[in-house]
Amino acid sequence: MIKIAVMGYGTIGSGVVEVLATNKDSIAKRAGDEIEVKYVLDLRDFPGDPIEDKVVHDYQTIVNDPEVSVVVETMGGVEPAYTFVKAMLEAGKHVTTSNKALVADKGAELIALAKAKNVNFLFEASVGGGIPIIRPLNSCLTADEIEEITGILNGTTNYMMTKMSNEGLEFEDVLKDAQEKGYAEKDPSADIEGYDACRKIAILTSLVCGQQVDFNDIHTEGITKISATDIKYAKQMGRVIKLLASSKKTENGYSAMVAPFLLSPEHPLYNVNDVFNAIFVHGNVLGDAMFYGSGAGKLPTASAVVADIVDIAKHLNRNILIEWSSKKLELVDYKKAEN
Ligand code: HSE
Repeated sequence: MIKIAVMGYGTIGSGVVEVLATNKDSIAKRAGDEIEVKYVLDLRDFPGDPIEDKVVHDYQTIVNDPEVSVVVETMGGVEPAYTFVKAMLEAGKHVTTSNKALVADKGAELIALAKAKNVNFLFEASVGGGIPIIRPLNSCLTADEIEEITGILNGTTNYMMTKMSNEGLEFEDVLKDAQEKGYAEKDPSADIEGYDACRKIAILTSLVCGQQVDFNDIHTEGITKISATDIKYAKQMGRVIKLLASSKKTENGYSAMVAPFLLSPEHPLYNVNDVFNAIFVHGNVLGDAMFYGSGAGKLPTASAVVADIVDIAKHLNRNILIEWSSKKLELVDYKKAEN
């Protein structure tokens, strides 16, 4: 029996518990052992919830329990998630997280700590929700020099752009709708200002370059200035507006940016609609590859977290090497890269 703890019982954390229960048998088969949730860490209590008796309020309870070998972090934000995750790794526990803010900011350090402790720090769910992209970049595509990653990495804004385009609605109305559907982050500025996509492209760029990319260096524009009129004119030109996050290898190094783009029907991301995400990757020997699917939401994201748990179960005594050093990667200015 592998005993785990879930830190943060919000949308994703409760999704993880649900996925583990729904696919209990097949997950146990693939992991080689049963997975049991021993603790749920949250500030709140959950009377009447099946996890009611597992709730703890102090992360030290988990740190100090040698029975817990795997910890799931689904709290979001850098602190206190960073403090908690660091303590878990230092205590020799494997960690999986869906938290892109944490990975983008502290990825290099936590990966190094996991390596030193011979445990794993995995973060498949931090980019692209349920779409596999971290593991492919860290494993299947390692024969390539990755020359381009361009993605629709934020489901909320893609949903909003699609709805504005299909229904001629204004920005504020579609934002409200996206929040009601639970797609948007608690603070919607993370989605609509492009900060969420910025952190995700920083993670992907760090992974393919093997060095820490500072997300503050990435030119980031969101969709807040896009109006129904802009969408109407784009349509008249036979185009759509999409928020893209892109990282490209140029003669002088990598450049990265997040901004709304006008896409023509020939573009591989033209038909990616609603809350779906897609990531286009070009490798120097592979050529093109596309990763497409459910990029946000409770169960798709939880599916990626649980897959990390299964992977950890298969590597309980071994660190899955992720090359991501703390040496900062200096990005090439996107304007210079375009010329
Ligand atoms: N708010 C994010 C999105 C959630 O809309 O893509 C998934 O990271």
